[in-house]
Amino acid sequence: MSNYPVEPFRIKMTEPIRLISRDQRLKAIQKAGYNLFALKAEDIFIDLLTDSGTGAMSQAQWGALMVGDESYAGARSYFRLADTMQKIFGFEHFVPTHQGRAAENIVSAVMVKEGDSIPSNMHFDTTEGNIRARHGIPVNLVIDEGLDPRSQFLFKGNMDLAKLEDFIKRTGSAHIPFGAITITNNAGGGQPVSLENIRQVSAMYHKYKIPFFIDSCRFAENCYFIKLREKGYASKSVLDIAHEVFALADGAWMSAKKDALVNIGGWLAVRDSKLHQKICEELILREGFTTYGGLAGRDLEAMSVGLWEGIDEDYLKYRIEQTAYLGNRLLECGIPIIEPPGGHAVYLDAGSLLPHIPPEQFPGQALVVALYIEGAIRGVEIGSVMFAHPDPVTNKVVHPKLQLVRLAIPRRVYTQAHFDYLVDVARKVAENCASLGGYRMTFAPELLRHFTAKFAPVG
Ligand SMILES: Cc1ncc(COP(=O)(O)O)c(C=O)c1O
Repeated sequence: MSNYPVEPFRIKMTEPIRLISRDQRLKAIQKAGYNLFALKAEDIFIDLLTDSGTGAMSQAQWGALMVGDESYAGARSYFRLADTMQKIFGFEHFVPTHQGRAAENIVSAVMVKEGDSIPSNMHFDTTEGNIRARHGIPVNLVIDEGLDPRSQFLFKGNMDLAKLEDFIKRTGSAHIPFGAITITNNAGGGQPVSLENIRQVSAMYHKYKIPFFIDSCRFAENCYFIKLREKGYASKSVLDIAHEVFALADGAWMSAKKDALVNIGGWLAVRDSKLHQKICEELILREGFTTYGGLAGRDLEAMSVGLWEGIDEDYLKYRIEQTAYLGNRLLECGIPIIEPPGGHAVYLDAGSLLPHIPPEQFPGQALVVALYIEGAIRGVEIGSVMFAHPDPVTNKVVHPKLQLVRLAIPRRVYTQAHFDYLVDVARKVAENCASLGGYRMTFAPELLRHFTAKFAPVG
């Protein structure tokens, strides 16, 4: 039984969307080199490319913009954000950054040396890219259930502790400048990590004197899953759970474009004051002064308000149930997805739906293109386009285990009717999936190639 949650808000501003004809869609996707990043947003009807920075701000956030302090240094808006940071995450030292990858760049610049390894459950694309850009090696050690789309395990984002310890012993902690965990696990289906696992991962890193960092852009959704699913947390508030989570970490970064409900923003926080000093130096060089970090004062205000709204439990209930509605309706139509549905997105299992397209011909890309042509829906491939890379020793291309299409849900933007339309489109694509063919890449840059690659149909 699929239940759509009642939105805990009403709508007082709208933005028109239009559905262009099939013929126009065919022309648009061809012109875009079959890369949906290259489409004009106006040519899309339902845009699920990302949940990052695409949410609707609240009246309180729009109001907060008006009181932004635009002083270059020591702005009031910075101190308001510092107070929120302290109250939610408990970090004394933090810098604002313009978005998540700016924080990742700074962490990598000050901590990663050539040949270093950074383990995580699963790094996301920009994290991987920033580590590789410093000649480091990102390593993914998620539990096996996290790579099995059908597993019903409730914390499929968990790190495999045995694999982690084995990896640390083989690599040596001198070559691991920090260890990470991503909550929720975006590259693996938006699946949550349990507090028990975070505690064990923290203890493991600390046993080997490795600083522990959390990629926390969807921390609120993760904490809400802990409340719903983990024994002993049902009566705790999401704020209390967040306190427990972040008390275990030596540092964290966040793309505030997700659970802080803003269109731009991020932060990087640490406990070590010497590390903080290095971070400030790097920040000043590339982003801006320490009290604004590449943002306007008004952005800091919207972030302070959004961080509190992002942990509101009525909002989180609606958010998680909305995603579950979409996932369950797709399942009812026989469309394979990563089960159970995650926090911010539904991930179509393109590898299972299109077994006749090998990973080298990008089944996920074939599916995103088909969804666009059928119904002007934009999703994103999360498979070999995004993550295949040459093995550093053999130079043979290593493909990721899963070939996925992520339908990421912007926060507070779409309604049940939009999702019902989307399900109809996906059903039609699935009914004709045997007729879909693969793609080859005609252009690709070295790092983060999915953003600008070009494709052509095979055959
Ligand atoms: C898990 C994770 N980490 C980091 C980032 C990077 O954040 P940003 O897009 O703000 O640079 C993202 C963005 O999608 C993400 O999902």
